[in-house]
Amino acid sequence: MNILIIGSGGRESAFAYKLSQSKRLQNLFIAPGNAGTGVYGQNVALKVTDFDGIASFALANDINMVLVGPEEPLVKGIHDYFLNREDLKHIPVIGPQQEGAQLEGSKDFSKQFMDRHGIPTAASRSFDKSNLEEGLAYLETQKLPIVLKADGLAAGKGVLICETLEDAKLELNAMIADSKFGAASDVVVVEEFLKGIELSVFVLTDGHSYKVLPSAKDYKRIGEGDTGLNTGGMGSISPVPFADEAFISKVEERIIKPTVEGLKKDHIPYKGFIFIGLMNVEGEPLVIEYNVRMGDPETESVLPRIESDLIDLLEGVAQGNLDTRSYTVSSKTAVTVMLVAGGYPGNYESGKVISNIENVKESIVFHAGTATQDGHVVSSGGRVIAVTTLQDTLFDALQQATADAGRIYFEGKYFRRDIGFDLI
Ligand SMILES: Nc1ncnc2c1ncn2[C@@H]1O[C@H](COP(=O)(O)OP(=O)(O)O)[C@@H](O)[C@H]1O
Ligand SMILES: [Mg+2]
Repeated sequence: MNILIIGSGGRESAFAYKLSQSKRLQNLFIAPGNAGTGVYGQNVALKVTDFDGIASFALANDINMVLVGPEEPLVKGIHDYFLNREDLKHIPVIGPQQEGAQLEGSKDFSKQFMDRHGIPTAASRSFDKSNLEEGLAYLETQKLPIVLKADGLAAGKGVLICETLEDAKLELNAMIADSKFGAASDVVVVEEFLKGIELSVFVLTDGHSYKVLPSAKDYKRIGEGDTGLNTGGMGSISPVPFADEAFISKVEERIIKPTVEGLKKDHIPYKGFIFIGLMNVEGEPLVIEYNVRMGDPETESVLPRIESDLIDLLEGVAQGNLDTRSYTVSSKTAVTVMLVAGGYPGNYESGKVISNIENVKESIVFHAGTATQDGHVVSSGGRVIAVTTLQDTLFDALQQATADAGRIYFEGKYFRRDIGFDLI
């Protein structure tokens, strides 16, 4: 099988790594990929939203499956684009069509979906220009802190947790009346604050049946002890110790089944990954959000634990017979530590030469923001490299991943040495 992965981060490196282990893989392409993905396949210089370019490449290279990593091409309709073209519709795309992608592309849509299908989530109401006054009055009736969420995609910056009523009113006004997040905040979801521990559960579905993939916990803040600015993610672990069988079975019964059933009832076709962001509130799971793709850096911890052939599973998704595919998961623990550029998530420099990758022997090195320049591997993004270790115990995995993160060098390199240690 010839597969084209769309994307260029650590997540796509992990997909490339996993797919390349399958005996069924013939040719693997990654568009655009990074300095590390070339080990597993061939990079193709195409933008993730260049649908015409991707289509021409897929036809010219006899691509049998397109796996979409990031949300942007899904929300922009890459799957629909393939289905709508007579010459392309035989090529399966893994990732939902535009309508299903609204689960991530519109927080208002996803809240309505959850309410309609009885899926546990924080109480909320949505407001726009037409009822902004009502929204401001509503805030006065709510407990603090209160959560304001821009409806649309806002690069992970569109959620504000307001500690005071004054702040909440200012921000609601700024989001709706002054377009603080552009069109993404034309509609704002005002949501009850949930107190608990976050984790993510991943699901693969063909629209009928599903497989519950390993759970993971990511670490969003830049500083050790979960302090400082939010980032794209500084590390992850899988499985999550407190997400035991009893908890996951609550998630399956109350959230996963009604989500897959809800999509069917609403006649929304869905073939791909569902990333369910959860809050564990005293042992009860509530949905914080849906994403319509895998997480980054969670993928780097989740995929190495899947023992089954990923091509077989994805083919099950494409053909609508996922229920007939075998699926097993390793009981080992995976820990991923992200190496980031100095200054990230603020301003940072790129083009730093990366050395000593070859000295990492016990971990998998997934490239994220890397490029090749004059024969050297250099940094080209804020999150540069993800180091993943798989070990029998969480403690061993944490120690190994942290040690191996220290072995790689580039000027300004930073990583958190405490990923997962809160869960020991
Ligand atoms: N209702 C809530 N209660 C408490 N924290 C929340 C709530 N909703 C969101 N958050 C926090 O804000 C973060 C971002 O919110 P999320 O809905 O995941 O939006 P996005 O990932 O699109 O920015 C979450 O990871 C969580 O830490
Ligand atoms: Mg989120």
